[in-house]
Amino acid sequence: MRHLLDTTDLTLGEIDDMIKLSMDIIDNPEKYAHICDGKKLATLFFEPSTRTRLSFEAAMMELGGNVLGFSEAASSSASKGESVEDTVRMVSCYADIIAMRHPLEGAPRVASYKAGVPIINAGDGGHAHPTQTLTDLLTIYREKGTFDNLTVGLCGDLKFGRTVHSLIKAMCRYNNVKFVLISPKELSVPEYIKTDVLKPSGAEYVEIENMDAAMPDLDILYMTRIQRERFFSEEEYLKHKDAFILDVDKLTNAKKSLTIMHPLPRVNEITTAVDDDERAKYFIQALNGKYIRMALIITLLKWGELL
Ligand code: CP
Repeated sequence: MRHLLDTTDLTLGEIDDMIKLSMDIIDNPEKYAHICDGKKLATLFFEPSTRTRLSFEAAMMELGGNVLGFSEAASSSASKGESVEDTVRMVSCYADIIAMRHPLEGAPRVASYKAGVPIINAGDGGHAHPTQTLTDLLTIYREKGTFDNLTVGLCGDLKFGRTVHSLIKAMCRYNNVKFVLISPKELSVPEYIKTDVLKPSGAEYVEIENMDAAMPDLDILYMTRIQRERFFSEEEYLKHKDAFILDVDKLTNAKKSLTIMHPLPRVNEITTAVDDDERAKYFIQALNGKYIRMALIITLLKWGELL
């Protein structure tokens, strides 16, 4: 049984295959409209979500399957004290595949030990968000046609932003990718990302606190929200909440070919005027999330011989 708990669970070849499958789904949706007939996806969301949960559900429906699940811990028996292990053991009796979001880092991994069906990590605390990374990779592929030789700026809350951690893990496996890590010192990437991921990969990276100087070099600018829910105090959050705001003026010195990404939700780190700039790709990125999740569902079900 294969699960998707972290980006590195997939080889580069497997990621390539999933991207190719997504592209075929985009071009030939009718070919896939009944591939999951009779199959069920459970979405177990112990934390809020709009894009991830709904795109997973839309993905399964467009494959001909059905969905069940819950969107908050309060409406599940977790509120009565049921463990994650028991929850997934039960849900494995009702569904063929499970997408799970949880506030605790590692909860989907713990779930995978007891699950009888594939588990997909749909975000675990401040740790990882591998399906967002697949979404990001599909977006980069569609915009740039390659993952090599890119300078990627990651801006905002790089400490708690799990999408950033997963994207670095994925992108540093490609050739000649440079990272510009833009954050206040207090919100810089966790040390383990530097020592266990960036340094062993040999990828070049710099850490800076001001986005303006880096802007002309960037091929991709990946903006992120300050993760209010992960701060220990509201005071700490308020100190950083408007640390970076991307507006039209800041883009004056950027490349014409820049791709502006954001996993969303946005709060105020990108002004709405930027939405009209043809380099803004974050809403297309959210749409790509549905296609790559369709490819992921098909792939995991096939690997588990459930399809
Ligand atoms: N990008 C993302 O994970 O969005 P949601 O929190 O709305 O699922």
